[in-house]
Amino acid sequence: MGPGHIDVGGTVADLAATLEDLLAVESFDPPAGFTRRRPVDADRAAADADPQAFWADAARELLTWDKPFTQVLDDTKAPFYTWFADGELNLSANCLDRHVAAGRGERVAFHWRGEEGERRDVTYADLLADTQRLANGLSALGVRAGDVVGIFLPMIPEVAVAMLACARIGAVHNVVFGGFAPSAVRERMEVSDAKVLITVDGARRKGRRAPVKAAVDAELGELPALEHIVVVRGPGENPGEVPMTPGRDVWFDELLAGADPDCPAIPLPAEHPLFILYSSGSTAKPKGILHSTAGYLLGATYTHRMVFDIDPDTDVYWCSADVGWITGHSYIVYGPLSNGATSVMYEGAPDYPDHDIWWRIVEEYRVTVFYTAPTAIRSCIKWGAEYPGRHDLSSLRVLGTVGEPINPKAWLWYHLVIGGGRCPIVDTWWQTETGSVLISPLAGVTPTRPGSATKPLPGISPALLSEDGEPVTEGTGILVITKPWPSMLRTLYKDDDRFVETYFSRFGPTTYVVGDAARLDADGYFWIIGRIDDVINVSGHRLSTAEVESAIVAHEAVAEAAVVAEPDEQTGQAIVAFVTLTGNRAGDAATEAELREHVARRIGKLARPRRIIWADDLPKTRSGKIMRRLLRDVAAGRELGDVTTLRDPAVMAVITEAVRAAHDDE
Ligand code: PRX
Repeated sequence: MGPGHIDVGGTVADLAATLEDLLAVESFDPPAGFTRRRPVDADRAAADADPQAFWADAARELLTWDKPFTQVLDDTKAPFYTWFADGELNLSANCLDRHVAAGRGERVAFHWRGEEGERRDVTYADLLADTQRLANGLSALGVRAGDVVGIFLPMIPEVAVAMLACARIGAVHNVVFGGFAPSAVRERMEVSDAKVLITVDGARRKGRRAPVKAAVDAELGELPALEHIVVVRGPGENPGEVPMTPGRDVWFDELLAGADPDCPAIPLPAEHPLFILYSSGSTAKPKGILHSTAGYLLGATYTHRMVFDIDPDTDVYWCSADVGWITGHSYIVYGPLSNGATSVMYEGAPDYPDHDIWWRIVEEYRVTVFYTAPTAIRSCIKWGAEYPGRHDLSSLRVLGTVGEPINPKAWLWYHLVIGGGRCPIVDTWWQTETGSVLISPLAGVTPTRPGSATKPLPGISPALLSEDGEPVTEGTGILVITKPWPSMLRTLYKDDDRFVETYFSRFGPTTYVVGDAARLDADGYFWIIGRIDDVINVSGHRLSTAEVESAIVAHEAVAEAAVVAEPDEQTGQAIVAFVTLTGNRAGDAATEAELREHVARRIGKLARPRRIIWADDLPKTRSGKIMRRLLRDVAAGRELGDVTTLRDPAVMAVITEAVRAAHDDE
């Protein structure tokens, strides 16, 4: 295949014309040559007839239980639902021991690829051995079932070992995305009372390296609950001096070397908490989303095999997310391992050392199922079809996307350039809270429509409601889920009130309010529109406006700030901050750079505002509430909505002018 070739039989130059033609196509039937391996019709029928019986059968078939359950759903304390509550199992045994016991220990769990091209194949037997040692090591450090263990690691196999070792002994893991700032780690460790933190000596990104342990130490200070820090020696050369506090800090490899190799998996109750994952909500305080063991694992296992049509004997699966997000939890670690699949785990960025690295990896490992985010696809489009065109992508059979609505053009490019027109695309809609995919095509079964997540999976009951709670059968509404499902969050960590208030107060304790608006078409297809709360979706990552605002306001030069989203071709949404400085300070480029850096330090680079608009005043109601709605309108270049409740209508004219000037400067 020559450079620039696309599998559909054209060249890059033909692509635009082909895309234009295909944009008129509304629905794509499953590609003719695609053969589905896992039939699903019976599931649909069973789930429609009796969802609880369907989930119970799936739980018996897909999971290995130490003590079978007799109860399925308990909804007597809604919205605090439980599933399979009297059953017992161990999640790490489901992900590891049962595969090794069945003679599949030598199967590769992860083909790990380092950023500098390093290769490491980790088998199920390897993972089991390391998981047992780390589980014993953690126990030796005093970790007991129910204790929280923080994990702040890059994309290396040790991150999976860390999660599985916690699960083995019933410790609750709390993974923090490696791209977050150490201060975010501190906050998440503090609010979850983490007893141990597992981190790394240093990180590398696109050829640059940075100390992590030293930076974490500088932020952590004295956290009363935190007793130990376990430090993994990351790949690549040592990033310099690694401060180790005697008695508190221990090297990961030394902990493993000194630990007993055998750690029997203890049976844990189905509802035992598995992990906390902090996600953004509509206040500055992140929400500690808590998942439990059996229901979560069932959701991840079932959806991974059914949505992507995974056959663990033949597929090579690759999810390009980071383990620090829910996508990584469910579709890099738990779903694939529970299914005994072989995955690729890639440490680096998609554009290092060159823009074709992903496709090089697909070719090298003969990846069959590839799962990524629309924002990544848009970057690939920008870089050009010649990069995938350099590689043989004919092994691919299923493509997936997640994290934000995918625009039809990106969908078609993915379909043509990456999938060669022969791979079904599964646009998977779900959330940190839902634990696993809820609305998505089933590869090779559901006719797809570019931009639509299509239909609910078996056993899932989404609906649209109007503002007044009336059902919307066609048109736009508030997305809700009307029946509980096994992998739903159980609560917000130590904050049951906020859990009820956030998800179950608007329409009652049996209607889960997603936080998204959606459209339902005449054929029952769901089209996700976006968030209806103060959450911004940057490159598929959730950020709370309040969290970014409070980071900005923490800067000594800032009097007040309001943050909204503006549409962005690349990242979906981008952050715009309207900032009033203290005293008579005028905003300038240096202050802007300083504020952006300040936000990066407090939250992470993702949260840096794309644009800062200086404003002497912000639009407020007479009671002093900032009217973000108007700021959103200006940022998006829309007509301003109702301004009659503004205390000082003149403010908006000044701000509109400032935004226009900022755009003109670009
Ligand atoms: O707004 C929806 C959007 O991402 C939100 C969930 O974000 P998070 O909890 O960080 O999880 C992201 C990965 C599962 C949703 O409320 N979202 C997620 N997937 C899609 C999506 N929007 C449209 N289409 C999707 N496929």
